[in-house]
Amino acid sequence: MSKEKIRDYYNKNAEYEWKRLIQDNYHRLEFDTTMHFIKRYIKTEKLILDAGGGPGRYTIELAKLGHELVLFDLTPKLLDIAKQRIINEKLENNISEIMQGSFTDLSIYENNHFDAVICLGAALNHVLSKKERKKAISELIRVTKSQGLLFVSVISKLAVLIDPFLRQNQDMNLFKKALESGDYKGGAFAPSHFYTVDEFKEEFSCKKIDLLQLVGLEGLASLKNHRVNKWNKEIYNDWWKIHLKTCTHPAVAETSSHFLGIFKKK
Ligand SMILES: C[S@@+](CC[C@H](N)C(=O)[O-])C[C@H]1O[C@@H](n2cnc3c(N)ncnc32)[C@H](O)[C@@H]1O
Repeated sequence: MSKEKIRDYYNKNAEYEWKRLIQDNYHRLEFDTTMHFIKRYIKTEKLILDAGGGPGRYTIELAKLGHELVLFDLTPKLLDIAKQRIINEKLENNISEIMQGSFTDLSIYENNHFDAVICLGAALNHVLSKKERKKAISELIRVTKSQGLLFVSVISKLAVLIDPFLRQNQDMNLFKKALESGDYKGGAFAPSHFYTVDEFKEEFSCKKIDLLQLVGLEGLASLKNHRVNKWNKEIYNDWWKIHLKTCTHPAVAETSSHFLGIFKKK
């Protein structure tokens, strides 16, 4: 049932989802920071699974860098957008597969198949039951090669709780229940489970992987959308230098709107 709700939400908001990460400075912080860290860790051309990759913003960016991508997502309309964008960008040769499904079951792929796996921008938040999330995490790890890398970003529980209060234009009770459980049953946004860092670490604790780094993607600028979106390029670039020096501080990662975990499989 929750998978249907999530698919419906993204089918309805498909065009927004394609533009989401580049629509303004604030969302660019999420995208630019994620790309910065992927590029820091992946230096040569690789086979990468984009699990929950939606309309393919990261798939396309990574394909442009010469990587080979498999795009895997739950929502047909997002995958249709991705197909068209990939053709427009003439990147078909770098995309070996576009597949619809749930990453809680990646059995179509063998163990140790991908050099790297990315699961970004809240895709994992949308798996509501802890048991299913554990299944998804174990699948993401299983299909990653030994010595391969896994990048997972999620919405932080501590950052999200204040969001409706800051906006004041939506239901102020929106995330109140999420304070206790982290669970949000859906409304303005698709059903989600919001993470604390401790819980994220606990769900990813596994003998097969090491956590290399935790990164706050919006960092100290989290929830300062209105100000950040007024910055010109020069101010953004100035802030970027400070952002990179602060975004891996544990307190910054925990309270960032999204945080990214970078793991290496043993
Ligand atoms: C906020 S979008 C992020 C898309 C992309 N990763 C990005 O960062 O731009 C969340 C995505 O997760 C996908 N998703 C949610 N649950 C999923 C599941 N169980 N299996 C595969 N994809 C899922 C949705 O269809 C949607 O494309």
